[in-house]
Amino acid sequence: MELKDKIYKALEKVNDPELHKNLVELDMIGDVIVEGNKAVVSLTLTTMGCPLKSTMANDIKKEVGAIEGIGEVEVIFGEMSKEQKDKLIEKLHGKQEKKELFENTRVIAIGSGKGGVGKSTVTANLAATLSKMGYKVGLIDADILGYSIPQIMGTKDIKPTMIEGGLILPIEKEGLKIMSMGNLVDENQALIWRGPLLGGVLEQFFNDVYWGELDYMLIDLPPGTGDVPLSLMQKLPKAEFLIVTTPQITAADVAKRLAFMAAKTNSKIIGLIENMSYFICENCNEKHYIFGKEKGKELAKELNTEFLGEIPLVTKIRENSDKGIPAAFESETNIEENYINIAEKLVQN
Ligand SMILES: Nc1ncnc2c1ncn2[C@@H]1O[C@H](COP(=O)(O)OP(=O)(O)O)[C@@H](O)[C@H]1O
Ligand SMILES: [Mg+2]
Repeated sequence: MELKDKIYKALEKVNDPELHKNLVELDMIGDVIVEGNKAVVSLTLTTMGCPLKSTMANDIKKEVGAIEGIGEVEVIFGEMSKEQKDKLIEKLHGKQEKKELFENTRVIAIGSGKGGVGKSTVTANLAATLSKMGYKVGLIDADILGYSIPQIMGTKDIKPTMIEGGLILPIEKEGLKIMSMGNLVDENQALIWRGPLLGGVLEQFFNDVYWGELDYMLIDLPPGTGDVPLSLMQKLPKAEFLIVTTPQITAADVAKRLAFMAAKTNSKIIGLIENMSYFICENCNEKHYIFGKEKGKELAKELNTEFLGEIPLVTKIRENSDKGIPAAFESETNIEENYINIAEKLVQN
């Protein structure tokens, strides 16, 4: 094999850290020149300001430098032309658009009969758990006005990379891919967005974000059963409906409205998770079912769906959300166990 071919082979081992494909496949390698034992590789970036360019350059130096006969590697940066960017976007995304959106992905919209039940917290932890189990997971914060996923996930200060020409790369945390309005606008600014625009944002989250292949897409709906969650859910290409509730909320309060929402959007209610089910007293280690033990189960029965499990009321969950590390990411908590049990049931049904 010629030295130049060996270099291209080596470059196939270097991935773009955000696009997760190799640089050759992405057409990001321009000229490769060999002078004596020195290789000069030109790397064509989507944007000159790419924060990861030195990472890529180091990876190139490592792989190419390991080839026998190469002593020195220089990386020269260039920027893609408009045509090259369009070609890249089409390569990454074009195929996906022609296919049915999320063809091989289970889309699960998480809703609640009322606000403040800990829906976003449960959604974030469930996404983290599925991801830890080895699934490829996306998480869309569809609560455009009341977004809280960036806080819970600790991704508040991250802005997504945008490839000029219309492709947004999701934010990644421990392998989980996330998109929230909170990462696009500054705090309070989201308030200027109104009804029709809101739907547009969600469509953008679906169509203009490069999700790649996912096993699960979890969607944190706005709270309640009003027009906003309903119309957002109608925009989802295909979704199952998962409900989070607390023992304070009775079946009589919300069952009818949740069933109406599911029927109206042609989606199946795949299960119910009860949050803040009980409190574990640190002194006696006993579970205290302060609001009674049967409420979640009664609601599940009323909705003809599976009761997937309970999550206790524990300070650690709130503390972790405030810190930006979902409790389920930390293995020393037994909260993890509750989530794994729930996730396993979800995967099976
Ligand atoms: N199981 C739990 N134990 C303790 N605190 C919780 C639990 N679930 C949620 N919380 C806290 O309750 C508050 C509301 O949760 P959030 O997920 O934002 O609710 P929602 O999305 O339903 O409005 C947050 O402060 C969160 O940290
Ligand atoms: Mg919420």
